[in-house]
Amino acid sequence: METPQNDRGQFGNLGFVLAAAGSAVGLGNIWKFPYITYDNGGGSFVLIYLLSVLLVGAPIMIAEITIGRSTQRSPVGAFLKLGRPAWSTIGWLGITTGFVILSYYCVVAGWTVHYFLKCLAWSFNGFTQTDAATLGDQFGDFVSNGKLQILYHGLFMAFTVTVVVFGVQRGIERATKTLMPILFVILILLVINSTRTPGFREAIVFLFKPTSIGSDGVLEAVGHSFFTLSLGMGAMITYGSYMSKRQSVPKSAITVSALDTLIALMACVIMFSIIFSVPAAERGSQFSQSLAILFTTLPKMFYSLPGGAVLSPIFYTLVAFAALTSTISLLEVVTSFFIDQLRWPRRVATVLVGLLIFSFGILSGLSQGSVSALSEWTPIGDKSTGVFDTLDYLASNWFLPVGGFFIAIFVGWFLAGSFTRKETEEGHGHFALHNLWRVTLRFASPAAIGWVIYAVILGKKFN
Ligand code: PHE
Repeated sequence: METPQNDRGQFGNLGFVLAAAGSAVGLGNIWKFPYITYDNGGGSFVLIYLLSVLLVGAPIMIAEITIGRSTQRSPVGAFLKLGRPAWSTIGWLGITTGFVILSYYCVVAGWTVHYFLKCLAWSFNGFTQTDAATLGDQFGDFVSNGKLQILYHGLFMAFTVTVVVFGVQRGIERATKTLMPILFVILILLVINSTRTPGFREAIVFLFKPTSIGSDGVLEAVGHSFFTLSLGMGAMITYGSYMSKRQSVPKSAITVSALDTLIALMACVIMFSIIFSVPAAERGSQFSQSLAILFTTLPKMFYSLPGGAVLSPIFYTLVAFAALTSTISLLEVVTSFFIDQLRWPRRVATVLVGLLIFSFGILSGLSQGSVSALSEWTPIGDKSTGVFDTLDYLASNWFLPVGGFFIAIFVGWFLAGSFTRKETEEGHGHFALHNLWRVTLRFASPAAIGWVIYAVILGKKFN
């Protein structure tokens, strides 16, 4: 029996796959993917996104897990162990990215709790017919209410800290083992329900029938594959460091990538079936705020559906669970640095890091209209407006692709082939695609990411 290094903890059977899938499946799948798919016209965007998961996402996922499992350290320590000290910059970038993403992600996660409570109240008290414009105003009022933003953001951070404090098996593994199956069951129920809506057929056609797509859409698809698979910032390195050597890295990575993709597509089917159930003529006005669709359009549409009063709180529970299993992984990346490198006790590290990120996140929470200096801050020209938007822009368009690029280069060019073969075959047996995987990491993945970074430099925005 192997013993994990300094009792860092280790995932049991299925623990790794569920935790990693929990990290990957989140607001990126349920909130972001449907609206960017809608904005980009469906079919072709989905196809390019699928290709990107296969060509860039899955190979880098295998690379990250391999780095983590072979070193049994969190990102900074892992690079220090495998390469020259300068490589640990990628680890530092990962920790910074985790800190930044969690600070604003937690704010949106808080919105899902608010909408869950709101739908629950509607379920009990009856739904007062509200038009889309009013729902939009309500959403606007909510996000510009600074006190409520801080409250829900704090609440969600408290949930996250509560899980992470208990450590790898008793915290992360137990929470994801409970939440992920529930999430999956709710999703299946909602998809079954979609098949009975008048918009189902149109939703499927929209999702899978190739259409025309511009280069912006292609870039957005590639960029999103990083965000949705939690790649480029060391989340999979960190979780990989808790993976048992008896499990297969390639199989786990493929399973997680496939589950994440499946769930993103299921989320699209659910949402588009609801949206397309509204007569086409009325759709435009209802769907104006694509970014806020989850919180403005959906509540109204739920209530025009039979069974909506029951379905809507269930739906927001699902979104909140998905977000929680992602915030857990973001917090773990930052916390594990203090535990591994600085030898802090987990409890102290988690609470302190949670408080720090919460405090920083207040800036994002207040930048949705409540404090105009924060809401109108434009440090990088017209690319983003406000703290929230700016942080998301920096993380999605810069930090994740840059991190992913160097991870691919590191594993593809700097780690010896004999080493990666040994590490990927441990717990797997003969890895027939090993050489193909390495060639992908050496050429295809960096080329695709390089193109994305080049486009960002030219000023294209794809988040
Ligand atoms: N993958 C998560 C989502 O789709 C977001 C995330 C990004 C989580 C990076 C961890 C690390 O919502």
